[in-house]
Amino acid sequence: MKTKVGIIGAGPAGLMLSHLLHLEGIDSIVLESRSREEIEGTIRAGVLEQGTVDLINAAGLGERMMKEGKIHHGIELQYNGQRHRVNMHELTEGKEIMVYPQHEVIKDLVSARLDAGGEIFFNVEGVTLHGISTESPQILFSDFDGEAHELHCDFIAGCDGFHGPSRKMIPELFRQEKQKIYPFGWLGILAETPIANPELIYANHDRGFALLSTRTPELQRHYIQVDPKDDISNWSDDRIWTELKTRVDTNDGWELPDGPIVQKNIVSMRSFVCEPMQYGRLFIAGDAAHIVPPTGAKGLNLAMTDIQVLKQGISRFYRFGEKELLNKYSEIALRRVWKAQRFSYWMTTMLHTDHNKTSFERSIQLSELDYVTSSRAALKSLAENYVGLPLEWEGSSLLV
Ligand code: APR
Ligand code: PHB
Repeated sequence: MKTKVGIIGAGPAGLMLSHLLHLEGIDSIVLESRSREEIEGTIRAGVLEQGTVDLINAAGLGERMMKEGKIHHGIELQYNGQRHRVNMHELTEGKEIMVYPQHEVIKDLVSARLDAGGEIFFNVEGVTLHGISTESPQILFSDFDGEAHELHCDFIAGCDGFHGPSRKMIPELFRQEKQKIYPFGWLGILAETPIANPELIYANHDRGFALLSTRTPELQRHYIQVDPKDDISNWSDDRIWTELKTRVDTNDGWELPDGPIVQKNIVSMRSFVCEPMQYGRLFIAGDAAHIVPPTGAKGLNLAMTDIQVLKQGISRFYRFGEKELLNKYSEIALRRVWKAQRFSYWMTTMLHTDHNKTSFERSIQLSELDYVTSSRAALKSLAENYVGLPLEWEGSSLLV
């Protein structure tokens, strides 16, 4: 079997890369270990930066997103029981974000690829990478029926998430992994209730952080900070609602609507970066290369910016035989990755409650929230990071 770009992983990174390459007339094959139903049904994040929305629209995939997604012009930060609106639209001269769940983006991408005759192998097993430092690397795998295949390609895109095999193929001598594990976990729920608030609320409280988000007018996504080692069986629906209400309470009669919880789970939080993001003909992108804590809503968006650099590098290679951008992929992508890491780390430490901190540090944290919500300069900085920073190379934008 032969293709130009062998893509491992049908997450947002792998699928978007395959779609964008197709638009440039470059063929690729996507290998995914899970089933189509599973990737389309896994609940993940939900906030798209302006640049991600622009990319999805420019790639001809935006029809459902523009109908069913919700544009938000701001967020609210809450501390000491008071809410403070961050008017991102005004602070960024007209930029906005879109609340549209990641698994809906996945559905749109899968159907666009399949409609265009794109090849996605679901339920593959035993993916291994070979010859990545040669000009004709190969991927070995078994398909759904257990038949073994050898995929020969010019490039391999490792878009296989944090646990995939690609990153580990960069020899240890050349690979540096930098990470921070936080003492925080997020207990996330999907609840059948009306929308709590027209915009997302990020709340700091002595008992821990809480976030109110949304999926549809009938289905809401909320989170509370818990111990990352806690077990979901310790959390009855009643206990979750009581804790959530305590943390987002404003003492002015506002009430959080509650209702049946249809899904709940706990995830731990980490920041992680692998440097470099390339070795020979292997390029890693998205969660395979970096993880951010969800407080900045950057995971999916960072995957999309990696892919835009990679797609342009590959496209220049085939169009003009030019390797310069491809050789700079890691450098360009990492520059933006680190900025998003900084922002996600900052949002996480500013908003979560760490009971190991001293009362001095807690007062500094509250003072930071006071500063951020009262200084136009600080608000502008938060807003430009939240809607998404530019991605530039040699003075011109690499975003669509
Ligand atoms: N073989 C084939 N596919 C694999 C393998 C493997 N050995 N290991 C993992 N995969 C697949 C996973 O099943 C998954 O569908 O790779 C895909 C990786 O997708 P994501 O984890 O969604 O990662 P990515 O595409 O980088 O998307 C960005 O950022 O913060 C997150 O929620 C956000 O998932 C989003 C991610
Ligand atoms: C979500 O809706 O899942 C969500 C929103 C904002 C975040 C993280 C997750 O910062």
